[in-house]
Amino acid sequence: MKIFSACEAIRDHISQCKSAHESVALVPTMGNLHDGHTSLIELAKTKATKVIVSIFINPTQFNQTSDYERYPRTLNDDLEKIRQLNIDAIFTPELDELYPQGTTHTPRISVPQLAESLEGQFRPGHFDGVCTVVCKLFNIIVPDVAVFGAKDYQQLLIIKRMTQDLNFNIDIICGATQREADGLAMSSRNTHLSHTQRSLAPKLFSALQQTKDQFSSNDIKTLEEKGAAMLEKYGFRVEYFSILDAENLQPITQGTDNAVVLVAAWLGSTRLIDNLLFPMP
Ligand code: PAJ
Repeated sequence: MKIFSACEAIRDHISQCKSAHESVALVPTMGNLHDGHTSLIELAKTKATKVIVSIFINPTQFNQTSDYERYPRTLNDDLEKIRQLNIDAIFTPELDELYPQGTTHTPRISVPQLAESLEGQFRPGHFDGVCTVVCKLFNIIVPDVAVFGAKDYQQLLIIKRMTQDLNFNIDIICGATQREADGLAMSSRNTHLSHTQRSLAPKLFSALQQTKDQFSSNDIKTLEEKGAAMLEKYGFRVEYFSILDAENLQPITQGTDNAVVLVAAWLGSTRLIDNLLFPMP
């Protein structure tokens, strides 16, 4: 497994791969890898002959500098995990490789509408940072496919929209959310939960499942309120609990094929997000 930290070096490597008619899959991450990430890497291996994993903690997508500074940096453990997966290369750029002029005056990519609600409302500018860095990675690696997790469902839709609208010739592939045995979606944030919070955290997924089981399109507002109320009862502080059209995150209409219920809620000082997609009954 090769490890690159310079854009120029990885560009050279990729052009050699392309000359040898290899196909390239990119799995972008911010490191601190868990089984959710490794499932995306395994999926990528089925989609291309060469898999590149990027590890870069992207400052422009954090709302608070303190959050960025606190983000777990576990490169050695991450490399050890990835080594066992037999992929082609890791790309771990330094900050000035991706932001040569610094982060303040860098051009930013914005996806209107889709990025404004839900996470966008509570984390202003977050998706601009995500799109900007993913766009840079796409320009450097020029992958044939890129894999993203359904765990960050709004991010996935925004990346798909950006890819289409900026004319990238890249297939965006979605990997299923990996969960702990009790239903809690895997996330590096789970390690911040206290013992008691950890035992309550699976209620987030239970609330999503309950909403799916009780779904009727006449009753969306009531179901949203009920889901949020159930979580508040267990001590969560809910930011949103929304049932929307899974295609475009707009309200459900008669033409909706799949619905998605999305939640963001705090348990103490840890913010958790999750979602569940289901076909319209
Ligand atoms: P990060 O949080 O490291 O996540 C990297 C990828 O792993 C994302 O596509 C995310 O949706 C996916 N993922 C996270 N938890 C998962 C789980 N439990 N099951 C399946 N997939 C999961 O998302 C980011 O980094 C950044 O925003 C990034 C796209 C790398 C841009 O900086």
